Amino acid sequence: MATTRAAITGIFAYVPEYRLTNKELETMVDTNDEWIRSRTGIEERRILKGVGKGASEMGAKIVQGLLEKTNTKAEEIDLVICATVTGDMVFPDTANIIRDKVGIKSGFGYDINAACSGFLYAYSTGAQFIASGMCKKVIVIGLDKMSSIIDYEDRATCVIFGDGGGAVLLEPTEEENGFRDAVLRSDGMGRHYLHMKAGGSAYPASAETVANKEHYVYQEGRTVFKHAVRGMNTSIREVMQRNNLSANNVAWVVPHQANMRIITAVANAADFPMEKVMVNIHKYGNTTAGTIPLCLWEWEDRLKKGDNIILTAFGGGFTWGAVYLKWAY
Ligand code: UT7
Repeated sequence: MATTRAAITGIFAYVPEYRLTNKELETMVDTNDEWIRSRTGIEERRILKGVGKGASEMGAKIVQGLLEKTNTKAEEIDLVICATVTGDMVFPDTANIIRDKVGIKSGFGYDINAACSGFLYAYSTGAQFIASGMCKKVIVIGLDKMSSIIDYEDRATCVIFGDGGGAVLLEPTEEENGFRDAVLRSDGMGRHYLHMKAGGSAYPASAETVANKEHYVYQEGRTVFKHAVRGMNTSIREVMQRNNLSANNVAWVVPHQANMRIITAVANAADFPMEKVMVNIHKYGNTTAGTIPLCLWEWEDRLKKGDNIILTAFGGGFTWGAVYLKWAY
């Protein structure tokens, strides 16, 4: 019997209009364009403005765009998975808010919280529902409104993050193309170095948590940096080894866009020339779960059926991993 795999049959993405440039950040905190460019590679990031506009504001546009682009009716969708750490509310999940806004009444939906590795986790999960035969059409979203949890008085974090995301449609194929393999890893000790402390059940929102700025991202950048390079390197190596891949027969590497220096270090360690590495961090900064679909969306015209592609990410949790897929159209 032929193996059923999950093929990506369409992609759509969205970033808000407002561009927060390095120049504007210079007027907000003690930083400068030269530091931000040389230490991170970021030139500007997009910010979703407007009261009451959460991640689902972007998510609904993304899913609506994906349905139209792929000529898919809302009622054909079996499952929507949304990877995000900035859902509209603590509950319910943003996948179902998006489903409601777009008019998807069939099937079910849920969120996955794996921070910057969210898209890898969600894509791998969605692919299993397709491979098992339980679902025929799955939408996987990677999306974050990081500006909602960033302290714009903290120069160590506010220069890095931005808002945006994208989604893919997964459908079954009997071809060789589609989702092939994933190395997914996590280690909860990472919570000490990258987290948002308050607003959950351990430290519910109070006047004190607000005064202490505990509803913002906390990051020990240097520690996270080291773990990120190591985690992405080891997972890329593992997924390539067990699928007999080399830098020569991989067409594209899609790294999470957290820091240009991390991207370069990871590419060098795996011997990938930078021409094969998708990079758009200069335009959008770190959109957490949004970075990988935003890259695939921008590179869509250059991708060819059968291309071997490696996705890799590292983020809060810690979570990290690498996914191997063959582009299906
Ligand atoms: O996506 C999820 C996972 N996250 C990551 O992968 C992020 C990993 N970490 C990083 O990308 C980097 O650590 C950062 C971009 C966050 C920071 O870069 P760094 O080169 O590690 O800087 P640092 O934290 O070691 O700070 C170096 C200096 C410090 O000054 P002193 O103590 O040497 O005087 C900082 O205070 O740079 C200073 N600094 C800044 N200066 C100007 C920190 N932020 C800024 C800033 N502008 N925005």
